[in-house]
This record gives sequence, C-alpha cells and structure tokens, in this order.
Amino acid sequence: MTINTKTGRLYIENRAASDIAEEFGTPCYVYSKNSIETNFNRFKYAFGERKNLVCYAVKANSNIAIINILAQLGSGFDIVSGGELSRVLAAGGDASKIVFSGVGKTHAEINYALEQKIKCFNVESESELYRISNIAKELNVDADISLRVNPDVDAKTHPYISTGMKENKFGVDVEDATRLYKTATDLPNISPTGIDCHIGSQLTDIAPMRDAALKMVELTDALIASNIEIKHIDFGGGLGIQYEDETPIHQEQFVEMLLEVMGGREQEILVEPGRSIVGNSGVLLTTVEYLKHGSNKNFIVVDAAMNDLARPSLYNAYHHIDNILDKEKRPLKRYDIVGPICETGDFLGKDRELSVNEGDVLAIHSVGAYGMTMSSNYNSRVRVPEILIDDTHAHVIRKKESVEELFSNEQIAP
Ligand code: LLP
Repeated sequence: MTINTKTGRLYIENRAASDIAEEFGTPCYVYSKNSIETNFNRFKYAFGERKNLVCYAVKANSNIAIINILAQLGSGFDIVSGGELSRVLAAGGDASKIVFSGVGKTHAEINYALEQKIKCFNVESESELYRISNIAKELNVDADISLRVNPDVDAKTHPYISTGMKENKFGVDVEDATRLYKTATDLPNISPTGIDCHIGSQLTDIAPMRDAALKMVELTDALIASNIEIKHIDFGGGLGIQYEDETPIHQEQFVEMLLEVMGGREQEILVEPGRSIVGNSGVLLTTVEYLKHGSNKNFIVVDAAMNDLARPSLYNAYHHIDNILDKEKRPLKRYDIVGPICETGDFLGKDRELSVNEGDVLAIHSVGAYGMTMSSNYNSRVRVPEILIDDTHAHVIRKKESVEELFSNEQIAP
C-alpha cells in the first residue's frame, strides 16, 4: 500500500501525513514514488516482450522529479509544448522517445523539437504538415510524423475532456487520412511512420476505446495496402481512475484489449497515459482555517483553493476529502469545503460528512494528475510546494513559491 490509512491516520508510503504537514506546511501536494512506479510498470509488464513504448502524458504532472522517475523506468513522453519538451530533457528523458501532440504547434516549437530529434510529431491538420515540412527542409533534417486520426467515437466522458468526435478540434477525419498520408509522402523532408488517436480522458468504459482501436488498425491495413509504411500505432491515453465510485479501466485490461485488436500485426504499440500513472499517487494536504456554521449550510474554510486545485470548480469534479487523523470519533457534520478565494466557484468539495476542528489537516485525494499542472496564482496566491515520498523519506521536489517571485517579472511603467 502506498497511500493508506493505518490505525485511522493517513500515511503516504511510510510517512504520516501529519508529519509532512507539520514539516512542510500546508497547502502542499504530496506524491508517492512507489505508486507512480507501480502504475507505470503495470503497463510495461502487461506488454511483456511485445514491442511497445509507454509515452507518459507530461501535462498530467510535469514536475521534473516525476518525469525523472519515469525516464529511469524507460518511459517515453507525450508532450504538447516546447515548455514540456524542455522539462523532459532537463529531467533526463530521452528525446528519441518523445511524441509531440497538439493542434497549435508553433514554428519555434517545431524547430526546437526537430533540433532535439524527437521520435514523432502527432500531426493534427494539413496546414501543420506543410509547416513541419518547410521547417525540416530549412534544417535539412527529416521529420517523422504520424497523423492524429479522429475516429469519431463517443468516449462518454465529461464534454470538456472528450476529444475523439467529429465536432472536436482534434485530429483529422478518418475519411481524409489516406489522402493526407499520400500528401505527406510527397512532401519534402517528411516521413510518415505512424498513426495515432486519443479519444478523451477519464474514460471508464473500454468499449469506445476498443471501437477506436479497431478503426485504427483497419485504417493502418488500408494505408499499408496503398504502400504507406506504418511502423507504429499510438492508441493515446485516457484510462479513467477511481475518484469516487467509478470502476477504473485497469492498465492490464487496456493492454490486453490492444493486443487482441492488433492480432498478428507487428507495428510498435504506443500509448499515452497520464492520469492512470499519477492521478491516484498524490494528495493535497490543507489546513482547516475556520468552521462556519450558517442557517442553511456549514462551511469548512481551508487554506487551499481553486487556484491550487481547479478540477472541482472547472469540471464539478469529485475528489474524496478526509481528515488525516480520523480516529477520534467526533460527531459528523455535513459541510462544503471551500477556499479563501473571492468566488462562489471556489470550492473543493460539496456536501461532505466530516468530523473536524479548526486547525485539523484534511487530505484531498486523487490529485496527482491535473492538480499542480492546472494551478494558478489567482488572488496572488503563491504556488504550493510539492513533496515526493519514498518510503520514509520526504523530498521537496518543488519549493514553495515566494511572494517576491509572484511579481518579479512585472515592472512599473515609466
Ligand atoms: N494524449 C493526448 C493527446 C491528450 O490530449 C491527453 C490528455 C493524454 C494523452 C492523457 O490523457 P490521460 O491518460 O491523462 O487521460 N484537465 C483534465 C484532463 C485533460 C486531458 C487532456 N488530454 C482533467 O483534469 O480531468
């Protein structure tokens, strides 16, 4: 067990959450190294000897310490910006295992990625193909590309994170793919080497993933029949995790489905998981500042807010919240857990039964993915520290931001 409750006290690996809160202060993000490694290795073991590359989606959690842990396990990376590319390289990631996704790659980003010799560009439009070809020609290098195909399946997830339907901005239509591969083959300094898709995030139903995978292999067969060499198929990420009572898609189940759909085909299999590697590997610790009892509602005002964790306000997402010291059986009360930001949308949980006193520390669970990476400085709040737990050891992997840093890039106009 990596994040667990021993005798009613929350532990991250073998370190009590109460010690961590005391030593580093709150709010703080805390991650379990072991949990991250285990989740990654579950993909690797499931693939076994089969040629594969697990490309961790950096956007889920881009701390260089976390990228480094995964790089050491042989991970590849799925990036969506030049900033993420810099992070992966700074963290010791291997450029030849990087795929670059995203609908809006700039000239500078493409240039940088070509100089670094990344594995592949996941191209999302015809215009992008021309742009990559021009830049590769200027640099006198070849760009390996794959087309992100939109398989037009309903991922049945939150509309903001559903990406594989025709009305979404991502990828190119299946019907257009063959023509575009032919265009790519004729363009200078472009080598089509792969094909890819990603239909959405936090998927809890494997059926749409399977439908998309079937469309991908069918298209691959058609491309090969028209003499286009496809060396890898990238099936994207999107595996849902358990936040509340969802049934997650397990790594093994996903890989098994891919192997079954691939049948005897020999292309390298790529996947781009983010959330399923880091999501349940992190908690956000926060202290109860005030208890406020109203006539209609009770509030717990904590020191973390929507700027630290945006998912509840943005997607109405559920994150389990509990008291890190739950043993003393105090009476339970129903509360909304809110932050100090001047917005009604600043909540972290609603209608939760908790037993708390002012000064207690709460843990907000399953925040390892899209927690810190989506944080902001709204209300001039500093970004919180990130702590990595390895057994009993606690490493500060991001220092708490200082107030001076908040406005160090600003200047008063003359
Ligand atoms: N590959 C591509 C091209 C993606 O766009 C994404 C996520 C992934 C892989 C990784 O998906 P995952 O395995 O993590 O589901 N902020 C939202 C999630 C946005 C996901 C965007 N794309 C949230 O907090 O739920």
